[in-house]
Amino acid sequence: MDGNGRWAELRGQPRLEGHREGSASVREVARTARRVGLSALTLYAFSSQNWARPSEEVAGLMHLLREYLESEYSEILDNGIRLNAIGEVDKLPRYVRDPLERLRADSAHNQGMVLTLALSYGGREELVHAAQQLARAAARGELDPERIGEKELEAHLWTQGLPPLDLVVRTSGEFRVSNFLLWQMAYAELYFADMLWPDFRAEAFLRCLAHYQQRERRFGLTSAQLQREETQRAKA
Ligand code: FPP
Repeated sequence: MDGNGRWAELRGQPRLEGHREGSASVREVARTARRVGLSALTLYAFSSQNWARPSEEVAGLMHLLREYLESEYSEILDNGIRLNAIGEVDKLPRYVRDPLERLRADSAHNQGMVLTLALSYGGREELVHAAQQLARAAARGELDPERIGEKELEAHLWTQGLPPLDLVVRTSGEFRVSNFLLWQMAYAELYFADMLWPDFRAEAFLRCLAHYQQRERRFGLTSAQLQREETQRAKA
């Protein structure tokens, strides 16, 4: 969700105003995702590296997160959404952790869509955490290192239980992945929107979903192989 700061600076406003307007995009995109029937939406709201930003910006973002969790409580529950979080959530201040945990617990049985907030999240940090977990299990003699494969590693990622990642959208015209879902991105489709996040609303989101629907996902196979598989599936 990149470009909040630039959105504000372009208007001569403090950066936090860009994040505030970005929160409105979060609400609209999440609502749209639910309406079109996506099973999962993950938003990169605060990275492990964002802690190093000026302290007033960090505090401002934390307050916006709290505001979001409180104001969206009913909307999330009424729409069958399950709220989830990935990252080093323990590092968040208590005034964010409390409403987060409450919404997480109260929405735990919802089946509609899983809305994941990546908070104090980093893809490398996630992989290090998974490696440590596996190493500890091996050291305890509970896991044979020879049997560690993709499935075993994935079981220790914070995204464990989420569906495979299909599409990654980055706004603001930057072509970087910035430590987001590094493992999960292996076969995801990427979409770079030349628009600042606060301007990214329902219409822009629907446009990028329409683009995604035109992609051919080959997962290392050839087009001809995929077509053969498709024909066989249609016959079965
Ligand atoms: C990156 O833009 C954005 C962030 C670091 C924060 C994203 C937060 C929100 C959209 C609002 C709060 C979140 C929720 C879930 C309610 P940037 O600040 O790096 O923009 P710039 O590159 O233009 O400076």
